Amino acid sequence: SERTFAMIKPDGVKRGLTAEILRRIEHKGYRVVGLKLYQIPREVAENHYGEHSDKPFFGELVDFITSGPVVAIALEGENAIAGWRSMMGATNPANAAPGTIRGDFATSMGENVSHGSDSPESAERELALFFSDSELIK
Ligand code: GTP
Ligand code: MG
Repeated sequence: SERTFAMIKPDGVKRGLTAEILRRIEHKGYRVVGLKLYQIPREVAENHYGEHSDKPFFGELVDFITSGPVVAIALEGENAIAGWRSMMGATNPANAAPGTIRGDFATSMGENVSHGSDSPESAERELALFFSDSELIK
């Protein structure tokens, strides 16, 4: 069993998709071990998306992810990292299959509703960035 960091981005929260996305997570059978509504400080957003700091869309990305509260989620389950990425669908909603979160709800590359760690290293880093130990269930 492994843990991953999932997030409902500001567009998902604003559009009222929180319950729907948590419903999908619970029905899939992942264990929610951390959960909070969180206004991301700019420094945390820049750290979270550090791998993209040289990209032309970096400023836009940080502006967007700090534009309103997100729902930060720590998930646990068998193959949770790849499994949650698969439930989200492709980064570009134009390529995301129906039935996936992005395929069903997102329309633009910038505002694509959800986030998921892309590797065990990212998961560990992002969970530590968004949650303190005391906020996570053992
Ligand atoms: P995240 O879960 O948000 O990390 O998405 P991802 O892992 O599927 O994609 P990636 O980490 O490569 O990119 C992070 C975010 O940057 C994406 O979710 C997009 O919102 C945004 N992004 C990535 N590539 C582009 C791009 O070419 N143009 C724009 N405008 N945004 C991009
Ligand atoms: Mg990513």
